[in-house]
Amino acid sequence: MPKPVLYVTRRLPPAVEARAARDYDARLNPDDHPVSPAELLAAAAGADAVLCCPAERLDAAAIQALPASVRVLGTFSVGTDHLDLDACRARFLPVVNTPDVLSQATAECAMLLILAAARRAGEGERLLRAGRWTGWAPTQLLGTGVGGRRLGIFGMGRIGRELAGMARGFGMAVHYRNRTRLPPEQEAGAVFHASDETFLPLCDVLSLHAPGGPGTRHWLDAHRIALLPRGAVVANTARGTLVDDAALVAALRSGQVGAAGLDVYDGEPRVDAGLLGLENVVLLPHLGSATVGTRDAMGMKVLDGIDGVFGRAVGG
Ligand code: DGY
Repeated sequence: MPKPVLYVTRRLPPAVEARAARDYDARLNPDDHPVSPAELLAAAAGADAVLCCPAERLDAAAIQALPASVRVLGTFSVGTDHLDLDACRARFLPVVNTPDVLSQATAECAMLLILAAARRAGEGERLLRAGRWTGWAPTQLLGTGVGGRRLGIFGMGRIGRELAGMARGFGMAVHYRNRTRLPPEQEAGAVFHASDETFLPLCDVLSLHAPGGPGTRHWLDAHRIALLPRGAVVANTARGTLVDDAALVAALRSGQVGAAGLDVYDGEPRVDAGLLGLENVVLLPHLGSATVGTRDAMGMKVLDGIDGVFGRAVGG
């Protein structure tokens, strides 16, 4: 029996590529160049499966244009907002992603950004690297601590709950806003809010963990920012589309938002010029799941899902 053809759009960790090459007639991308929708469609000709990445946007037209031979679409991400899932359903194309295995790494990244923003780590590093550090001083670069402060989590899924556990270790009180209230064992003492009006005024720190897509586009807008306590810290490791960048930049300039830590951007890799010009923002290039172990696990998880469609034993 010939092996199914699997087209993989970007370089994957070595162990994941080795497994793909062992189990599939794998079309890889050895120089890891970014792939346009047109190249993706051309390279998928005759493929039985496609493994894409969140940077590749496959709208309804692209999904419809995928070759009829493609029986499953895998994405090397937990997020699926780059894919038109309605169009996938309409052509009965299963989509497999990578839930669970990146929750801890992404929550760690959120905590990293919260601490870095609150403690002005970006400003300190830029000062030092520019050769402008003249030595320790009692009033230099004073930030705010997180102990005893209130963390608001927007979207209390797996990543949000991981972050809640970490925040408790820092002595933070956890509040959350979610479509539905969690059972007590998942809440673990976090306080549920059914409205933005009760939730946002309590958020000394606000961390975003909801999925992207039309339902959450620009959720953090000028109106909601105005409900935050003055000087709040905002972190986003979810999707850039959740934030109205113009409103956030205005709030960072006015002091309504004291500092922000961002890992994701609306229209990335483009980053709003207003954000780039501000000192009180820490900016990372979408590193949420970027640990060696997590990226290996994501690759194995998405291959497990693709294997399932071809009726193979998972991992073999
Ligand atoms: C995802 O998985 O959706 C991330 O954004 C990439 O790790």
